[in-house]
Amino acid sequence: MNPLPEKIVCIGAGYVGGPTMAVIAERCPAVGVTVLDHDAGRIAAWNSDRLPVFEPGLAEIVGRARGRNLWFVEQRAGLAALAEADVIFISVQTPTKTEGEGAGKASDLRYVEACARFIAEHARGHTIVVEKSTMPVRAAERIQQVLAANATGATFTVLSNPEFLAEGTAIRDLLQPDRVLIGGEDAAAVGSLRSLYATWVPPERILTTGLWSAELSKLAANAFLAQRVSSINSLSALCERTGAEIGEVAAVVGTDSRIGPKFLKASVGFGGSCFRKDLLSLVYLCEHHGLPEVAAYWQQVVDLNEWQKRRVAAEVAAAAKNRRVAVLGLAFKKDTNDFRESAALQVVRSLLRSGCEVVAYDPRVEGARFASELGDATGFTVAASARQALAGVGAVAVLTEWEEFATLPWASVGVAAGATVFDGRGIVDRAAVRQAGLGLRVIGSPAG
Ligand code: UDX
Repeated sequence: MNPLPEKIVCIGAGYVGGPTMAVIAERCPAVGVTVLDHDAGRIAAWNSDRLPVFEPGLAEIVGRARGRNLWFVEQRAGLAALAEADVIFISVQTPTKTEGEGAGKASDLRYVEACARFIAEHARGHTIVVEKSTMPVRAAERIQQVLAANATGATFTVLSNPEFLAEGTAIRDLLQPDRVLIGGEDAAAVGSLRSLYATWVPPERILTTGLWSAELSKLAANAFLAQRVSSINSLSALCERTGAEIGEVAAVVGTDSRIGPKFLKASVGFGGSCFRKDLLSLVYLCEHHGLPEVAAYWQQVVDLNEWQKRRVAAEVAAAAKNRRVAVLGLAFKKDTNDFRESAALQVVRSLLRSGCEVVAYDPRVEGARFASELGDATGFTVAASARQALAGVGAVAVLTEWEEFATLPWASVGVAAGATVFDGRGIVDRAAVRQAGLGLRVIGSPAG
């Protein structure tokens, strides 16, 4: 068994870096864990009672470790921690490139490369550098080059250790992962990282592979998950036209043990920071390696998702006779305050463009941040409760599956007479909507 690393650093205090390091610190009290970020406001929030990330169970874990062996530090003040670190995780964003070769598809590695330069300048001795962010295949090669070109005496081993946590269940996923994946060729470095996770993860769940397999496995896992959502969403449209019910179809399909029941919920399309970005990165990789048929196959998963969002937005806009629409749910899924790539962004934009007024409510998303992401938010307002959002509207779009939307007392919420409720998640109480005399449309259910 390899000895535990004594000191680790993570660059990037976002939705992955923050919770992952908090769990490592909580589970490994003997390991000093420093999380760096150049965003001073985000670091201040991690050091406060109002963490920048909402995740069930996170505040308790941070509370137990922070100040003991977990520190959140502004990047420029973290040079000593970098110099002392045995292991440095890179957990910064890898957004889709907006310009240059591969624009619109390839992952932008500029933040990762900047991290590598920063590490090369400040690390001392032999340091293990771990890719935690999702990377295109062979990104580690680029990191190795940047480290070697900028090193001032230190030496490095690069490992890939992609994170599979899902937002909203991050703490459970970290504490009881299906698997931890470590990719690399240097047995001692792999052993050192393995020893960290082995503190709480059963050994058979710690998988080791080559570097390139680890990088591709993460993209592949996300592509498979996204593909399931696009598959079920494609059938939701067919159900609406044929009289079949998507919930019933999914339940039957999911009982086949080869298929399994998870990730078969029809929705207004998948959102989140990963699926779209990772699929596009995979498409670009396939094109780059001369595989246009494979690229087109995965591109279709993205295209279907865009189509699903468009068709829902058009239907809600058409239903809103008085041009006033309530949007319930801005987050890309329940139990998170994250709205990156959320279906709500596209649906709200489209409703505003078609001349509707939109009043939105989400229990966790900060309305002002969502409004600023919209760009032109003319006609968009945020309500403090679902009831407030619903007053007088002619149509309602339920876009996130928050529990409170499943139990709304439709007869007394004050929507306009003759209003239509569009349930984009299949969660609302259908009987209550009908008893209230409202129109009802449920994704994947026959209309009428
Ligand atoms: C995903 C992967 O699950 C995770 O392993 C990876 O590390 C990061 O990307 P995340 O984006 O946090 O995690 O959420 P996930 O639960 O996968 O949901 C993604 C989107 O798909 C959400 O918008 C969700 O509402 C939607 N979805 C999911 C469906 O519409 N139907 C489903 O059946 C499942």
